[in-house]
Amino acid sequence: MPNVIVVGAQWGDEGKAKVIDLLSADARVVVRCQGGCNAGHTVKHGGKTFKFHLIPSGILYADTLCIIGNGTVIDPEVLMAEIAALKAQGYNLDNLKLSNRAHITLPIHKLQEKNVEDSLADQKIGTTLKGIGPSYMDKVGRFGLRVCDLYAPSEALAERLRQILQHKRGLLPEDQLMEEPGLTMDSLMVWCQEAAENLRPYVTDTISLVHDRLAQKQSMLFEGAQGTLLDVDYGTYPFVTSSNATTGGACTGSGVGPTRIDYSIGVMKGYVTRVGEGPFPTELDDAVGTHLSQVGQEFGTTTGRARRCGWFDAVMARYSVQVNGLDGLAMTKLDVLDGLSELKICVGYRHKATGERMETFPAQLETLKQVEPIYETMPGWQTEITGITEFDALPTPAKNYLQRISDLCQCPVAIVSVGPERNQTIVCHNPILEKTLSVQKAGIT
Ligand code: GDP
Ligand code: IMO
Ligand code: MG
Repeated sequence: MPNVIVVGAQWGDEGKAKVIDLLSADARVVVRCQGGCNAGHTVKHGGKTFKFHLIPSGILYADTLCIIGNGTVIDPEVLMAEIAALKAQGYNLDNLKLSNRAHITLPIHKLQEKNVEDSLADQKIGTTLKGIGPSYMDKVGRFGLRVCDLYAPSEALAERLRQILQHKRGLLPEDQLMEEPGLTMDSLMVWCQEAAENLRPYVTDTISLVHDRLAQKQSMLFEGAQGTLLDVDYGTYPFVTSSNATTGGACTGSGVGPTRIDYSIGVMKGYVTRVGEGPFPTELDDAVGTHLSQVGQEFGTTTGRARRCGWFDAVMARYSVQVNGLDGLAMTKLDVLDGLSELKICVGYRHKATGERMETFPAQLETLKQVEPIYETMPGWQTEITGITEFDALPTPAKNYLQRISDLCQCPVAIVSVGPERNQTIVCHNPILEKTLSVQKAGIT
């Protein structure tokens, strides 16, 4: 049975959770691979809205094993709150497991991040302030605390915490280290013991677990968080998150090698949004921007901040297809474009100062700030598409729009989403079932 990676192909919030929830119906395992509670993944089903931050979006299927992988960073309080909320709604969570190799976000990390963001003044990254950057800094800097460390003999845990606090002494003012809860040796020890007890039912060696399931040929979904342009290597650095949100991160964050992956799907909105700071070439500050924001209800799932909105950017999308090795696209929120008389697709950039035309995504931030989009204009569709579940039933301008995006990205459209609910979806190709429906007929190849 196929193993499928689902990643965000823009700046996050593309609708990854909806796609994961949809495909989870036929997958036996879902692994969340990287990031932490900076993610906000929304699933709407049966009139209910679920917002996941750390728990994989396949959790609504009791028979689907949901794993929080080794590549994640875990805030135990956030995870326990999510677990409690789901239990209150009748989900027993016997199908949830947490990697003993995942890293822990400590109270100190959130404070450290707030201090750095405050000090950056107008150069802020606009992070979610969930302690993600400092957690990954400590992971890579070898001062991290892993889930398994919580269960070490108490003297070994105390020694590790002493090392961590010693390291932090150089980074935080002494008065904060003394006063903030969870930042003294004693309070941190108690905090860790509490986290260890709470997390205990879920913690396991998920590497063995995924390999047992792979040996049984169970279909596996890998759930990315954030998006390609927020990836620490490929994104708009330094306005990025601190993990690899691309397909490579799915492998390192789950313990499953690239040779076991059968299909990679990139989720893209029919337009672009971004939350937080950083350059955004196709950003709109006009009535269309307001339409996208209001109709798309573009407010951050984790922080509630307004998302910036703009036209579809094919330069960025093509780059995403390349760095992820995408096999198919899931085009979401197409319904948000309903009623717009014309649609624009950015097919290249022009440097404002030099006039140079660019077809590739620039590395340098200063260049990206200096480009203006070169647009192609296409007619919109003046009808509602939220009830359409067959590709052939879409209005011709919508089919043409998808076809043009597919051509520009050199990647087929596998899924089209026309509303937030599970059933508001056109599945042209289901990679888990290896079933292709109207895709050839519709010409989206
Ligand atoms: P994720 O982080 O990529 O999982 O995406 P988010 O959950 O942060 O944001 C996507 C938002 O769009 C959520 O509120 C979804 O319920 C909603 N959504 C997903 N697909 C569609 C769609 O096709 N149409 C509309 N109108 N909303 C959608
Ligand atoms: P999902 O998984 C959108 C953004 C933040 C900020 C930058 C760095 O829901 O798509 P961080 O807290 O990660 O250090 O912030 O990344 N960001 C996201 N934007 N969706 C997300 O996750 C995001 N996670 C982080 O707004 O610009
Ligand atoms: Mg989100």
